[in-house]
Amino acid sequence: MSTAIVVGATGIIGRAIVERLIQDESISVIYTLSRKPGGHTHAHPKVRHAFLDLRASAQNMAIGLAGVSGTYIFFSAYTSVSDPEEMFKINNDMLTNFLTAVEITGATKSIKRFILTCGLKQYGCHLGESKQPMVESDPLLTDDVGGVKWPANFYYTQQKELAQAASKHGFEWICTLPKDVIGYAKGNFMNQATALGLYCAVSRALPGSVLPYPGSRDNFYSFNTWTSSDLHAKFCLWAAKATEPGVGNNVFNVVNGDTETWQALWPRLAERFGLTIPDAPFTTAEKSTDSSTFQLSTVQPLAANARALGISKDEKVSTPAIIDVKIDFAKWAKRPDVLEAWETIRDQYGLDQSAWDNATWDFMNVAFGRHFSTVASMSKARKLGWTGYEDTWDSFDRTFRILEEEEILPGRT
Ligand SMILES: NC(=O)c1ccc[n+]([C@@H]2O[C@H](COP(=O)([O-])OP(=O)(O)OC[C@H]3O[C@@H](n4cnc5c(N)ncnc54)[C@H](OP(=O)(O)O)[C@@H]3O)[C@@H](O)[C@H]2O)c1
Repeated sequence: MSTAIVVGATGIIGRAIVERLIQDESISVIYTLSRKPGGHTHAHPKVRHAFLDLRASAQNMAIGLAGVSGTYIFFSAYTSVSDPEEMFKINNDMLTNFLTAVEITGATKSIKRFILTCGLKQYGCHLGESKQPMVESDPLLTDDVGGVKWPANFYYTQQKELAQAASKHGFEWICTLPKDVIGYAKGNFMNQATALGLYCAVSRALPGSVLPYPGSRDNFYSFNTWTSSDLHAKFCLWAAKATEPGVGNNVFNVVNGDTETWQALWPRLAERFGLTIPDAPFTTAEKSTDSSTFQLSTVQPLAANARALGISKDEKVSTPAIIDVKIDFAKWAKRPDVLEAWETIRDQYGLDQSAWDNATWDFMNVAFGRHFSTVASMSKARKLGWTGYEDTWDSFDRTFRILEEEEILPGRT
């Protein structure tokens, strides 16, 4: 029998990993670590929760981690702050401190594989257009690539740090790169399904019950990949246990395995929430008070590949990435009629006000306002034996159902 440690067990990624580990008969004990308790979601005889603050010193953490060891460690702790430099430092320090703490307790001796969750920001898709599809061998956006001073990315330093610790202590590491995660974690509303579900539920309560497409024309027709938190958890267990040579000490994209578009998903959303779709105002030249345009970055990640691809002079490489939404979600969420509709359904269905207060409207603007595709390839993992797949609409639909059960979205009548 094996044991597991999940660091960041209350998060969207971590919670799903714990759920999968509970179902895995080869795992006898699961240590769940975070500041908040695991709560009823992880109440199971195999689960032992321990308080852990990754911002504490490694010595202090080691005291709390006495007796905690795992054959497999799943690290999905993450802190988001607005200042990029602070965010870089905090997230690096959290992993470094944890690695030092398990060295102090001696738990490094039991580790077989350490699975770190990072994300597709590895390719800079938060900065602008990356080469499509994104593959793991694409160049990292470091200072010496494409002659550009790229912003610091804590994923790169975390991976380097983990690889060094693995080599020092004789275990293997794997890093997963999910895309926008479709999943649910109690008390965490920072996910696309919650914000999208709220947009639909409130649109239903507004006069006419229509679902206007909020994004840009290019966005409507572009291709994307998403990651179900449950499929990602399955991948993590596969990566922990796979015996095929070449799996260990590796980085893998983890997406559902289908390629989707909003043109295909939007009608399904409308039907699910009982809405009709008005004509999209793609051709309207004048700006409405609801629209917004802003710049993501001055350089596209494509610049890193430009020379190799022979596109150094293409305007796509040198034109800044623009976000352009017909309906700016952050503005929409403050409109008096929208607030009134929200309050009506909130009171009618007993919904959670903090879901509305914490919904990631800015993140939604990027998801709907970008003018480029975000497709990741799963070929590398598939060649090594990974066969997992999940339909993206099914991931959304299942998550909406959970959000309805948890009274974050109105129940279906
Ligand atoms: N969600 C997405 O759409 C998405 C997409 C792509 C990649 N990713 C990546 O996936 C990883 C995990 O993200 P997530 O979305 O699962 O984040 P999340 O839902 O915010 O969860 C973060 C976890 O980290 C824990 N944590 C934060 N600060 C801590 C501290 N000081 N000490 C101990 N635990 C701490 C939190 O628990 P407590 O607050 O209880 O301590 C929570 O369990 C990140 O690297 C993220 O970049 C996420």
